[in-house]
Amino acid sequence: MESVDFHTARALLEWQIELGADECIGDVAVDRYALPEKLAKLNQQAAKPHLTRGPVKTIERDAVAEAHAAAQAADTLEALQEAMTAFELCDLKRGARNMVFSDGIAGAPVMIVGEAPVRDEDRTGRPFVGASGQLLDRMFSAIDMGRDRKDAPVYITNILPWRPPHNRDPKPEEVAMMKPFLERHIQLANPKALVLMGNWACQSLLGKRGIARLRGQWLEVSGKPTLPMFHPAYLLRNPDAKRDAWADLLSLKAAVRK
Ligand code: URA
Repeated sequence: MESVDFHTARALLEWQIELGADECIGDVAVDRYALPEKLAKLNQQAAKPHLTRGPVKTIERDAVAEAHAAAQAADTLEALQEAMTAFELCDLKRGARNMVFSDGIAGAPVMIVGEAPVRDEDRTGRPFVGASGQLLDRMFSAIDMGRDRKDAPVYITNILPWRPPHNRDPKPEEVAMMKPFLERHIQLANPKALVLMGNWACQSLLGKRGIARLRGQWLEVSGKPTLPMFHPAYLLRNPDAKRDAWADLLSLKAAVRK
């Protein structure tokens, strides 16, 4: 069979599922009219090992340790981006169109950590460009900061650089294996303060969730003052929470001015 790329293969599979073919029964179609000897031949063929499948070797790899080694070997943000691009152990990479590394100005006093790319970010390779990104930009422009403002810049990344399929929640193993890259990212970008947007950023860097309780409290991550805030996607669904977000933005502005 001609080989197809990931996106085409997925589209073909989804099309079959839409048609109702939701089960895979055998490698060879069953001809119910075939004479018994023809059936026996087909069964023999199906039982033959596929030529393309070599002997199966299972090599246990420690994804977190490999991520840690690759991240530590990177001395610059460019080298870190290259190391993440070359990292093959996270399955999300195979379903994503682009890796989303960062946006804004490296070296900015504020580093924002979000969750993961969704559709628009996956398409463009930039974090926070969809609806929640537009709200994020408005929130920071209200305190005279922004990803494009040379006088008061912010730097933006996510805990995962690839879009999870159907925007599902990150899996604990995905968060764990990408965390060494995120920690190195924070070290190399070296902001004055970190903002953790939402529960998943808190889960990755603080090891706990509960954003309604955590937001607005100054904590510490990698030696940096760290402020958890409601994720802009949450604020779009819960506009009443914007009052708390505004208080947190003012607290951030005061902290970085010091
Ligand atoms: N939500 C996130 O957490 N990050 C993005 O980049 C986009 C949406």
